[in-house]
Amino acid sequence: MKHLSVLVLALFACAAAKKPAVVGFAQVGAESAWRTAETESIKSEAANRGITLKFSDAQGKQENQIRAVRGFIAQGVDAIILAPVVETGWGPVLQEAKRAKIPVVLVDRGIKVADDTLYATLIASDFVEEGRLAGEWLAKKVNGKAGIVELQGTPGSAPALDRKKGFEQGITKYSGMKIIASQSGDFRRSQGKEVMEALIKKHGNEITAVYAHNDDMALGAIQALEESGRKPGNDVIVVSVDGVKDAFNAMVEGKLNCSVECNPLLGPMAFDAVEKALAGQKLPKKTVVQDKVFDQANAKEVLPTRKY
Ligand code: AHR
Repeated sequence: MKHLSVLVLALFACAAAKKPAVVGFAQVGAESAWRTAETESIKSEAANRGITLKFSDAQGKQENQIRAVRGFIAQGVDAIILAPVVETGWGPVLQEAKRAKIPVVLVDRGIKVADDTLYATLIASDFVEEGRLAGEWLAKKVNGKAGIVELQGTPGSAPALDRKKGFEQGITKYSGMKIIASQSGDFRRSQGKEVMEALIKKHGNEITAVYAHNDDMALGAIQALEESGRKPGNDVIVVSVDGVKDAFNAMVEGKLNCSVECNPLLGPMAFDAVEKALAGQKLPKKTVVQDKVFDQANAKEVLPTRKY
């Protein structure tokens, strides 16, 4: 009889230990093909691991994301994955998560906080490097001389700030590389097109190159250039960041010249980090995802193997 009750207790303990983890994912929104690929990667990896995922789409607004994180804390999730819209303003809500002993794994975008123990780890690309690679590629392509329109991402976001900085570093030694206009298109194709239309009206043929902080805005700009009678990829050189399938198609068609990759398939790394944090293991403060540069010379060969 005694043996039987020990066995029953052990079975209960086993069942309790196997309870699947519940993880909240506070996503930026669905502004780009890249973002959709990241969401799918996180959702499918959660499903593969039997993790219950609570998903929140902040529609590009930090206040929605903060509300979502507070909601996850109130629900008592085991961990939170956060892709922060902007860099600043996270201190108070992350303090609340810390007090509740809920580890926060940052994916894709970094933040600026005085106390870096407020998050467990950050898994992201090096956005400054992406911008630098785009700038260097463009400078070489145009022999150091261009009138450049820069389409920036979401104001205050890590990729917009860092890709701007990196690009400026990449072109700095070429005195003929001039940024003649720099405006935000919020990482959206429709806004990339609108901004480009306005800038074509203002600057006309002064524009010989476009640097977009993501592929979606570049694809919008390409449309605007075509509608104005220009030949993107030819009379106007177009460079962007992400490496999504549509960008590869545009490179194969000769309309986009170069796309610096930014890998959105972060699900496996994010949940490895979540599981380690829940097991009390120490994590590196940042893991940098490695990316490559693609252009019209390799796009056709690579396109069939692109996963996003
Ligand atoms: O933070 C990554 C950036 O956000 C991607 O480059 C862009 O497409 C997205 O919306």
